[in-house]
Amino acid sequence: MLIRTTALHEPLSSEITPRRVYLNRRTALAGLGLATASPLALAQAQAAPGGGKLPKLPGARSAVASAMVMEKVTSYADATSYNNFYEFGTDKADPAERAHTLKPRPWTVSVEGECAKPGRYDLDALLKLSAMEERIYRLRCVEGWSMVIPWVGYSLSELIKKAEPTGKAKFVEFTTLADRAQMPGLRSSVLDWPYLEGLRMDEAMHPLALLTFGMYGEVLPNQNGAPVRIVLPWKYGFKSAKSIVKIRFVEKQPRSSWEESAPQEYGFYSNVNPTVAHPRWSQLSERRIGEDGLFAKKRPSLMFNGYEAQVGQLYAGMDLKRNF
Ligand code: MTE
Repeated sequence: MLIRTTALHEPLSSEITPRRVYLNRRTALAGLGLATASPLALAQAQAAPGGGKLPKLPGARSAVASAMVMEKVTSYADATSYNNFYEFGTDKADPAERAHTLKPRPWTVSVEGECAKPGRYDLDALLKLSAMEERIYRLRCVEGWSMVIPWVGYSLSELIKKAEPTGKAKFVEFTTLADRAQMPGLRSSVLDWPYLEGLRMDEAMHPLALLTFGMYGEVLPNQNGAPVRIVLPWKYGFKSAKSIVKIRFVEKQPRSSWEESAPQEYGFYSNVNPTVAHPRWSQLSERRIGEDGLFAKKRPSLMFNGYEAQVGQLYAGMDLKRNF
């Protein structure tokens, strides 16, 4: 897109927004086919700055308003340098150092299994499938740390509805990329590759389950699961599978990679639950990355990571100690 720098009559939005920011956004929006995004969406994107090196991906303030978190957002630097993405190594710093070898384009996600309308979606088709929203969610890792991140995406249910799952579709299985050429961590047998995750159908259809393409108003950095991942804020972070290539509707409960590797430690549900300790450590409290120093007081962990009002009903009547 050609941009003139000396126009005499700019639209109003350029007068209330720094010109460079405004022009960058217009270019990015046009490139993504999202030129109809509202001014509010643009304001949101500006509120939580990203790294400034990746294409912009703004989202309108989410209608799932009750899920908004009024806590300080983790800095972009912290959220993109302290990661778990074992396909690039097991050290927290490995993904940021090594994930440049991941190629997020071209990218295809196949939707298959028990559904009337299976399909292969390329990334551009997925980006246009529904309106982008920005949702500030807590992410609580099973290891005892947490972050607050402004994700950009839309409810996973939007994609699921398009596939028209059959009555036999009781669960959804997510398969993520496993390509030795792009992912040096696959040489290690720390997990059985590809990284697999699963959800019960009603969990996957819950409006909080986010099919995620961006964070901080920009597309996902590779280390955070580019180009598409899920984010399930009420579950431990490992359920939020990164760099997804396949979504499959199945009748039987799928096994996740972590469940497969240590079933006594990582259950299928993995809802954040401070009353159920991990066999090797307590889950009563957590360390907020960036805010709390190593010796600072930890904060108490919350049932369903603070989303109990929204998701508690999904588990009514279940023994959550057994179904951990
Ligand atoms: N997805 C894949 N494919 N591989 C992984 O190793 N790690 C999980 C999850 N998704 C992981 C993954 C874990 S343990 C966590 S805590 C979150 O990603 C971390 O997401 P973040 O780095 O964006 O904070």
